[in-house]
Amino acid sequence: MTIDEHDFASAMAARQAAQDGPLADGEERSGSASALLQRPRRLRRTHGLRALVRETRLATDDLVLPVFVTEEPDAAHEVPSMPGVFQFSPDRAAVFVEEASSLGLRAVLVFGLPAVKDARGSEAFALDGIAQKAIRVIRERVPDMVIIADACMCEYTDHGHCGILDEHLDVDNDHTLETLARIAVSQADAGADVIAPSGMIDGMVGAIRAALDRHGHAGVSILSYSTKYASAFYGPFRDAAKGAPAFGDRRTHQMDPANAREALRENALDVAEGADMLMVKPALAYLDVVRQTRDQFPAVPLVAYNVSGEYAMVKAAAAAGWLDERSIVLELLTGMKRAGADLIITYHAVQAARWLRA
Ligand code: PBG
Repeated sequence: MTIDEHDFASAMAARQAAQDGPLADGEERSGSASALLQRPRRLRRTHGLRALVRETRLATDDLVLPVFVTEEPDAAHEVPSMPGVFQFSPDRAAVFVEEASSLGLRAVLVFGLPAVKDARGSEAFALDGIAQKAIRVIRERVPDMVIIADACMCEYTDHGHCGILDEHLDVDNDHTLETLARIAVSQADAGADVIAPSGMIDGMVGAIRAALDRHGHAGVSILSYSTKYASAFYGPFRDAAKGAPAFGDRRTHQMDPANAREALRENALDVAEGADMLMVKPALAYLDVVRQTRDQFPAVPLVAYNVSGEYAMVKAAAAAGWLDERSIVLELLTGMKRAGADLIITYHAVQAARWLRA
């Protein structure tokens, strides 16, 4: 219920009139505090009351856990700028995912780190590519885990860009679409439930949808990184996934942080091309865009990506003793849900699952 100012003012006036009656000689009006009709604090008095009127609830199955998988055998390398995040060999990744599952997490987002890279990102769609291997091993060990495969080329190209380069060393949009379609099909063949194209290449959702359908994967869904900004918050991820561009940046395909209306256009295009879910990335500096996307497409599931730089900031401040990590993380994730996200991809997923359980 909303109380607009007019209703409030007339309620106050009516109450005052009822209370007032005629004043006896020398009588004084009671203090203004006692005349308050609305006291929002009444519903904040106890833990029980606060829980009853809570509008947003964070649950473990709102969270998606990113997993980095490397070709290196028997590996568990901690990423220096992301304490608590590891690059795992496929077998170890599967054990980690099994543990996540036992905590109630239902979905993982798989990133592959190939041993060799080339200009065309061939390992991204290789039959025995690292992501494909990881998907198979995870599927076998934790059959009911929802496996989301990040579909991009930047971790697989020797130049670190998200596509095939043209003669001006810019990403060639339409050639890149063909490769993205091959990547998506190979990931679906390996057992992915959801393909998540992350390159902000025009037409990527349509190209992937058509290819999946052609190859018998009409049931595999697409989570589009529909609104992905050219953000400085991806710094630690580029250490973790070894996908920093060797030159230049991603501003010819990712969005300008100054724009929000453009996000609505990207969302609309992706829905029209067949996206099953939308995403806003990063989350923190873009919660207005999360809200606008939620309002634009109330019926399309919306994902917020709580990215590597957001994770690193919290970790660093917590390590310095400046912030309480648990309270900060739960507040941030709740804020993302309140802004309109259904799901949140977060490197804090395992920790948050433990905290939510306690
Ligand atoms: C691209 C991709 C990136 C992230 C997810 N997918 C990096 C980029 O666009 O540069 C960033 C995730 C993060 O920072 O946590 N494959």
